[in-house]
Amino acid sequence: MAKAREPDKSEGAGSHGGQVPSAWVVRFAPMVPEGGPVLDLACGGGRHARHFLAAGHPVTAIDIDLGGVADLRGAGGIELVEADLEDGGPFPVAGRVFAGVVVTNYLHRPLLPELVEAVAPGGLLIYETFAVGNERFGKPSNPNYLLEPGELLAAVRGRLRVLAYEDLEVTAPRPAAVQRIAARNESAG
Ligand SMILES: C[S@@+](CC[C@H](N)C(=O)[O-])C[C@H]1O[C@@H](n2cnc3c(N)ncnc32)[C@H](O)[C@@H]1O
Repeated sequence: MAKAREPDKSEGAGSHGGQVPSAWVVRFAPMVPEGGPVLDLACGGGRHARHFLAAGHPVTAIDIDLGGVADLRGAGGIELVEADLEDGGPFPVAGRVFAGVVVTNYLHRPLLPELVEAVAPGGLLIYETFAVGNERFGKPSNPNYLLEPGELLAAVRGRLRVLAYEDLEVTAPRPAAVQRIAARNESAG
């Protein structure tokens, strides 16, 4: 008899409750240079900040509301930055680079160039969020929060090498249209 498959404890776009990390992030996290700093942008409850902290990376977590990561305040390796990323002000970590730049279930498209710029030589951008088509399933349905076809590919073109990219509809943890990318900065630095 076939062995029942263990339920996947990771979750993808569409999940922002709880602390279960995205399967996409979990898949590419081991390719982030060991011990290198990680940026978790719009961190929410910090499921990815926690994942990378546990893996030995120092983490900078940014959100307009740090309530979801209040328990991490003062913990070793974490830098919490409370900032409105959409107020037109300077990017809170402008000029800094990270071995891993992680964004899930968040889009403010004017930031895409800064996020690509923030990937250190040898580092990875891991991005997963909702795409056009998601309006058929529910929220987000505002086009400002939905990636256009190929938008993540266009954002990294000429800057990062695409390791993996998907543009698809998923059924779990709930039906959603998502795009996701893992891309590496292969410049010499
Ligand atoms: C859907 S949640 C995703 C959280 C986390 N990335 C995850 O996947 O678990 C979106 C996050 O974006 C944050 N956010 C929304 N608008 C923001 C803004 N203007 N500046 C900074 N963070 C913002 C919210 O506070 C929330 O934590």
